Amino acid sequence: MMRSLIFLLCMLSLDVLARQTGPKPYSVTKRIEARKYAVASAHPLASEAGTEVMKAGGNAFDAAIATQLALAVVYPEAGNLGGGGFLVANMHNGKTVAINYREMAPGKAHRDMYLDSAGNPIVKKSLEGHLAAGVPGTVAGLIATHAYARLPFARLVAPAIRLAEHGYIITAAEARGLNRHRDNFLRLNTRPTAFVKDTPWKEGDTLVQKDLARTLRLIAEKGAAGFYAGETAQKIVEEMQRGGGIISLEDLQNYRAEVLQPLRFKFRGYDVLTMPLPSSGGICLQQLLGMVEKHPMENWGFHNPKSVQLMVEAERRAYADRAEYLGDPHFVKVPVKTLTDTAYLQRRMADFTPGLASLSARVPAGVIKESEQTTHLSVVDAQGNAVAVTTTLNGGYGCDVVAGGAGFLLNNEMDDFSVKPGSPNMYGLLGNEANAIAPGKRMLSSMTPTIVLRNKQPLLVTGTPGGSTIITSMFQTLVNALVFGLDADQTVNAPKFHHQWLPDVVYIEKGFPEPVKHSLERMGYKFTSRESIGRTELIKIHGKGKLEAVADNRGDDSAAGE
Ligand code: GLY
Repeated sequence: MMRSLIFLLCMLSLDVLARQTGPKPYSVTKRIEARKYAVASAHPLASEAGTEVMKAGGNAFDAAIATQLALAVVYPEAGNLGGGGFLVANMHNGKTVAINYREMAPGKAHRDMYLDSAGNPIVKKSLEGHLAAGVPGTVAGLIATHAYARLPFARLVAPAIRLAEHGYIITAAEARGLNRHRDNFLRLNTRPTAFVKDTPWKEGDTLVQKDLARTLRLIAEKGAAGFYAGETAQKIVEEMQRGGGIISLEDLQNYRAEVLQPLRFKFRGYDVLTMPLPSSGGICLQQLLGMVEKHPMENWGFHNPKSVQLMVEAERRAYADRAEYLGDPHFVKVPVKTLTDTAYLQRRMADFTPGLASLSARVPAGVIKESEQTTHLSVVDAQGNAVAVTTTLNGGYGCDVVAGGAGFLLNNEMDDFSVKPGSPNMYGLLGNEANAIAPGKRMLSSMTPTIVLRNKQPLLVTGTPGGSTIITSMFQTLVNALVFGLDADQTVNAPKFHHQWLPDVVYIEKGFPEPVKHSLERMGYKFTSRESIGRTELIKIHGKGKLEAVADNRGDDSAAGE
């Protein structure tokens, strides 16, 4: 009786909270200082959803849920219900948690499902259309997160429903993205979608998503069953049947998020909490920091050729190990202890020659005994809870397929498996048998939501999208802040570089200093320019009562707080 009354009150207040007359104007804020709580995410309206629920008495977990749900509406390129993600948190009482809601290979998936009769990868098959989608994990992840939150789940869905139902004003970047994918949306979808209209999208247009609003209402009312069973599940399965996909009702009913402990290690006296497998991010970050820890980079300086070379060589070696050894630990034995052992990491750098480029062809994986489009949000609340969440559809707009009538895009995460062991994926990353496709297996990820503690208190809460560049962006974020002592804004926005073993080139971002590039060219390095690398969100906790949140300049990312 009491429970029904509470549910009824929740649904009534959900209606009030979701009511609004039209799209709300908003602006992007790149840096804020706050006293109580802060959120940094890929979109101002999503950061605002997070602060709205903290203002209403929620904590950082409530805010992380509300922000993700709002991103699923206002940032369709990567925010999602049809993808997956990871959460890393440090609670005010010192407890920690990591939640794995990575997508899974459907039950009918098999090792060679993306190969032609000659055994060669059919590249588009794991990237576009129904067959590219893994079983979505996001909603299960949000429900698992809710165990640590304070407010009723329905209250956390309200801002997203409001945004989907009444629409929101799209930015120039979003208009460009939707226009770029228009042909794919038309070709691959079996039902009309909100993402296609008769004329091209332009900045200032309003995007209304009625089908998505209905799905969000079902999730608000029924929790996980609003997605993995009943009407929504049926819509996903029917979409698969119409489009030649393989996700079944059983796959959806069997999906579970996994509650874990973060990977925890020391770096120069700080405690780093980050994501364990099936993300490669945490292990590689530990390797990278371990390989450079003893070198006096603070004396050499930020963007000094010696520092950049050392970091590039560490990256080369960590990515070689990633390709060889890492995969879903429920399916393969991964020698995590050995790969992150200090002596092993020193041995790994034994053939590093200062002033001379190594060759990836001569740097195999260590011998041991045993979209790019992703999005990150960081939250800190008034109690001192810190939450870092990275979620993804994999490519921008995932596989470009909307679950017909349900309004959300499905991921193309299957491409994060080694489609053919030894052949590169969309990020040019190589993988081996450890990351081969198997039913129910989770594809290896690079997502690296990370929290740094100083004297057991959160100091940095951070993460970024960027596919294979996520790990090297996090490496640079931590080294920038903890070794070079850059301020929060420079830590996030200084030009980045990236090496991933193969191809044997250093990717550099617009603005990377030319003289440093020329010094490294003389050492034998080859360079490729990229428009941008990552979109980092960072909250720095300066001490009691002072939070600084910085949203990356590279996108519409925005910070909010009080
Ligand atoms: N889809 C990008 C990643 O998970 O690493």
